[in-house]
Amino acid sequence: VDLESLLNLDDIEEVATKQIPNKAWAYYYSASDDLKSKTFNNIVYGQILLRPRIFVDCVNCDTSTSFLGHDVKLPIYVSPAAMARLAHPDGERGIGQACEQFGAMQVISQNASMTPEQIVADAKPGQIFGWQLYVQNEREKSEAMLARIKKLPQIKFICLTLDAPVPGKREHDERSKNVGSNLPVRAAVQEGDSVSTTSTNAKTPAPPRSMGVGQSLFWGTAADLTWQKTLPWLAKHTDLPIVLKGLQTHEDAYLASLHTPQVKAIILSNHGGRALDTAPPGVHTLLEIRKYCPEVFDRIEVWVDGGIKRGTDVVKALCLGARGVGVGRAALFGLGAGGKEGVARVLEILKAETETCMRLLGVDRIDQLGMQHINTRAVERD
Ligand code: FNR
Repeated sequence: VDLESLLNLDDIEEVATKQIPNKAWAYYYSASDDLKSKTFNNIVYGQILLRPRIFVDCVNCDTSTSFLGHDVKLPIYVSPAAMARLAHPDGERGIGQACEQFGAMQVISQNASMTPEQIVADAKPGQIFGWQLYVQNEREKSEAMLARIKKLPQIKFICLTLDAPVPGKREHDERSKNVGSNLPVRAAVQEGDSVSTTSTNAKTPAPPRSMGVGQSLFWGTAADLTWQKTLPWLAKHTDLPIVLKGLQTHEDAYLASLHTPQVKAIILSNHGGRALDTAPPGVHTLLEIRKYCPEVFDRIEVWVDGGIKRGTDVVKALCLGARGVGVGRAALFGLGAGGKEGVARVLEILKAETETCMRLLGVDRIDQLGMQHINTRAVERD
């Protein structure tokens, strides 16, 4: 396909849907139960109105910002999402190359289809990554992974995902489990690797046969994490800043903010609607934090993901106080539409739309964005 002819993220998803194996599509597209959280994620930004100002010089427009003190050219990063090679052989490394082109950050999934070493291998100076951890029942496997990550200076933080101690019930994924041939790739850490997160032993019995991709990737993941036990354990095994992913209430955002200096950021996320269905989109949690514990924004960085499809979505999240926004499916569908060039096209579209939005709002720098630029009445009415 001519990537230039794809004008928005829906165009890209449509092309990818036709090009990738059905089972991969079902895994990427799926969300829990009735897909209500996924749907809320997709519509909530549209309910927030923008408040453009006139007579503002916006000849220049600068989208650069920083995450945890590291400079980036975009407030948009790629969220950790498993199994990119299901979409295209360029895989997570291709996503990384596209990110490099746009000065964007990439968070690598624990269940990536390439190893972290492969993904960061051709990183350019200044390019930054995070690595996402699902703590395993067999803690020594997670400890061994953390030791490996320590040797990769490009990886600047550990992103601990907490919204899915068990996977949600993803029916598209489950229905397609017996359809077609076996998937061509498995999580790289699962095979041929010195550290396997899913080798079976007494503690982790073999999974029953036939599960959806999501269910089988979760096999062996710990469900017994707590504030008291897990953060000290993690801090013992990494010196990197910790980013907690999957917070969905102001109470947890506040608790996280009490765990500085190790915890440096939180990601408001309902896992793209793939964990608890009818859990709130990040916008609602941002609004809660503003209302009940705004000091959180001063103590730690607040990032958000879920349903980002337009530059206006990006800008609205930043106006609400987010430092940056993550895209999950968009990067995977970009790969599916055109490999690493497809991911680059996704970032190019989002960057251009974000700049247009900033200019039309009357803003030329990210740090000027604030509540004065939006009207949130429609999402706050209850
Ligand atoms: C994810 N997500 C995810 N999150 C995580 O912490 N570790 C992971 O391995 C994965 N894997 C994963 C696979 C697929 C196919 C999807 C779609 C998502 C969640 C991801 O990081 C992010 O929270 C959402 O994807 C954001 O929503 P959007 O951008 O997909 O709407």
